[in-house]
Amino acid sequence: SPAPGATPAPGVTPAPGPVPELFSWEFATDPYPAYAWLREHAPVHRTELPSGVEAWLVTRYADARQALADQRLSKNPAHHDEPAHAKGKTGIPGERKAELMTHLLNIDPPDHTRLRRLVSKAFTPRTVAEFAPRVQELTDQLIDGFLERGEADLIHDFAFPLPIYAICDLLGVPREDQDDFRDWAGMMIRHGGGPRGGVARSVKKMRGYLVELIHRKRENLGDDLISGLIRASDHGEHLTENEAAAMAFILLFAGFETTVNLIGNGVYSLLRNPGERERLQASLAAGERGLLETGVEELLRHDGPVEVATWRFATEDLVIGGERIAAGDPVLVVLAAADRDPDRFDEPDVLDLSRRDNQHLGYGHGIHYCLGAPLARLEGQTAIATLLRRLPDLRLAADPADLRWRGGLIMRGLRTLPVEFTSR
Ligand code: HEM
Repeated sequence: SPAPGATPAPGVTPAPGPVPELFSWEFATDPYPAYAWLREHAPVHRTELPSGVEAWLVTRYADARQALADQRLSKNPAHHDEPAHAKGKTGIPGERKAELMTHLLNIDPPDHTRLRRLVSKAFTPRTVAEFAPRVQELTDQLIDGFLERGEADLIHDFAFPLPIYAICDLLGVPREDQDDFRDWAGMMIRHGGGPRGGVARSVKKMRGYLVELIHRKRENLGDDLISGLIRASDHGEHLTENEAAAMAFILLFAGFETTVNLIGNGVYSLLRNPGERERLQASLAAGERGLLETGVEELLRHDGPVEVATWRFATEDLVIGGERIAAGDPVLVVLAAADRDPDRFDEPDVLDLSRRDNQHLGYGHGIHYCLGAPLARLEGQTAIATLLRRLPDLRLAADPADLRWRGGLIMRGLRTLPVEFTSR
């Protein structure tokens, strides 16, 4: 039987040489050689995903950017012409958990426009800026928790809890309930495409909790984001209770594993690039922020958390990069491949924290551009700057070859990041 990724579609010119193995263990560890091959030989490539679904992978920057903004590509999985054998096990987001389906990442205009306008009234750059001291406090508390040990697993002890506590605080989930979220989120991140039962139970519990919280807040509005969502209105229109629950859920979900991986992949990249890390440390010591800001953007471009999480479905026959895509076909824009395209970025494989002209696609592009980008930047910058400042001799405590990656179609990040440092 053909290797995964080697299924040529009718009408596609076969690429020279063997198609690299996609979605294997080696691929999760370092997908960039396979992406380079695809960009070069099969920039719009039809392949069979591990779930059995056939989808197109778009890997060149110019095609990717255009596809992200193409309104003929829908985010609504109802447009998927799904083969019967794969029904129910495609891993396509939103296929299960129907109650939480009406969220931004699964809908198109005009519903998307309405919901995005409403949430944007509650979740503004100002909301995020005012939240900065709390993110700093959370970051310091987490570091305090392992400072004396002289070693830590930066995923488990730091990158994982920080975004979950941050988003819970922002939403207005009471502190005493936040560890439940940590458990549910842990279940989802560990088993993301794995055993269905536990994940489905966690999603169900989270939804039940959110619906109940929305009920309670309605009685007693505060200045948190859930109250903001309830209050937000546009021409007299409000979010329904179900829409508010779905919105809270997507804020948690979209803002969680992404940020874990931004911090995890980012710190790892800095540890592997000592020159860049020293440059950043010196700049922070001099009280500057410029290199931190461009640096976090570069870390996102260079080894971003979102690999492919950009499902779209063709609503009509169309052409991308010269390939004919049929109505109903899934299209996956491979952000991580586009962001290493040498036609767009000089020396794309080099990490250059002061890179200029860095219009990467890590946060997407077009109407679905990441709503949480200001929060992600705040968390990423605070986490990285504080780690380098408080643990100046931070070093990797494992052979890079032994590190395991959580790979897959959606996100790419380290399972663990063992480090050591001089304890104080
Ligand atoms: C959308 C990346 C953090 C909330 C997106 C998209 C990308 C992305 C690529 C577009 C997906 C598409 O077009 O199909 C990231 C990265 C993050 C991050 C790399 C961290 C480093 C966050 C955070 C939040 C968030 C912290 C919220 C708290 C959202 C929402 C959408 C979205 C709600 C959907 C927007 C829409 O459809 O209109 N994100 N994200 N993200 N993100 Fe993020």
